[in-house]
Amino acid sequence: MSPDLRSHYLGLELTSPLVASASPLTGDLDSLKALEEAGAGAVVLPSLFEEQIEHGSLEIHNVLEQGTHSFGEALTYFPEMDDYNTGPDTYLEHVAAAKQALSIPVIASLNGISPGGWVHYAELVQQAGADAIELNVYAVETDVYASSASVEDRTLRLVSKVHSALSIPLAVKVGPYYTAFAHFADRLADAGADGIVLFNRFLQPDIDLETLTVRPELHLSRNEEMRLPLRWIAILRGRVSASLAATSGVQSSDDVLKLLLAGADVVMLASALLRHGPGLLRELTDGVRAWMEVGEYESVEQLKGSMSQESCGDPRAFERAQYVRALVDYTSGHRRPAEHG
Ligand SMILES: Cc1cc2nc3c(=O)[nH]c(=O)nc-3n(C[C@H](O)[C@H](O)[C@H](O)COP(=O)(O)O)c2cc1C
Repeated sequence: MSPDLRSHYLGLELTSPLVASASPLTGDLDSLKALEEAGAGAVVLPSLFEEQIEHGSLEIHNVLEQGTHSFGEALTYFPEMDDYNTGPDTYLEHVAAAKQALSIPVIASLNGISPGGWVHYAELVQQAGADAIELNVYAVETDVYASSASVEDRTLRLVSKVHSALSIPLAVKVGPYYTAFAHFADRLADAGADGIVLFNRFLQPDIDLETLTVRPELHLSRNEEMRLPLRWIAILRGRVSASLAATSGVQSSDDVLKLLLAGADVVMLASALLRHGPGLLRELTDGVRAWMEVGEYESVEQLKGSMSQESCGDPRAFERAQYVRALVDYTSGHRRPAEHG
């Protein structure tokens, strides 16, 4: 019998743990249909940004110009926002159209950091038919007077405000740069996050030596980037009362399997789908299924978390001790560092 690929995420039952994460592919109806056809368990629509709601889409370019503004980097996803997402009203239309065209869950995405008036959009997105909302808290904190505690408190207030405006589930997508991430993840769940999406991939600006300008550059991800969510999902599995979604670096069915074994409820893809097209999902699904058959796993639910920190034979493997062991192995010549081509 073919393994059961269903997975529960945010209280929703998905036909597959493979989810198309927010990207231009999910901003287009034909691509959304192709993603569903190729086996996506759910889709996350591109983000509507706090700044677009607060300032109107025309002003978004002015916000972008403010180099030291912490939103600046968030918006470097796309220098020309108009090409990506034309503003709040069309966003709601896209949610409704996606909902009508697909039978898999449609997760809308809001991207912001402050618990301001823009939050009422969460309700509108819900009314437009979204099955869940992913709140992306993409911030680069540049204020030397802002402490980590104040930044975390602000995020928790935002999560709690969005959560209380909704009756649909809420996922929160965050970056990896928190001092005590396990504790923060637990507080996110307490504040109302039904799921945590690990991790935002921060785009690092570059300097152009010819023009002496700072260039935001978007590179599609590489496989080794999935190790960061892998570690944290393994650590958090069973410890926080929220679903866990992996995003960053996933390219192959092996990556998907590793993240499920670590404890992800869903595995999200953007770069690989942009590189290879929606049909890649079919290939990955076949790869996951074939591996499960060989290992005699009956279902994704059975597989999920079986290599998490609480389940694996060596819980320290996810912690500091592993670092020391890797260094010792290297200097004693037992293990060569892996080369990334
Ligand atoms: C071109 C592009 C556009 C993206 N737009 C969004 C977005 O609007 N909202 C969001 O939360 N993430 C966005 N992301 C991030 C992806 O959803 C994903 O989290 C990230 O790329 C890491 O996954 P990957 O390694 O599979 O690409 C975007 C990524 C790319 C490459």
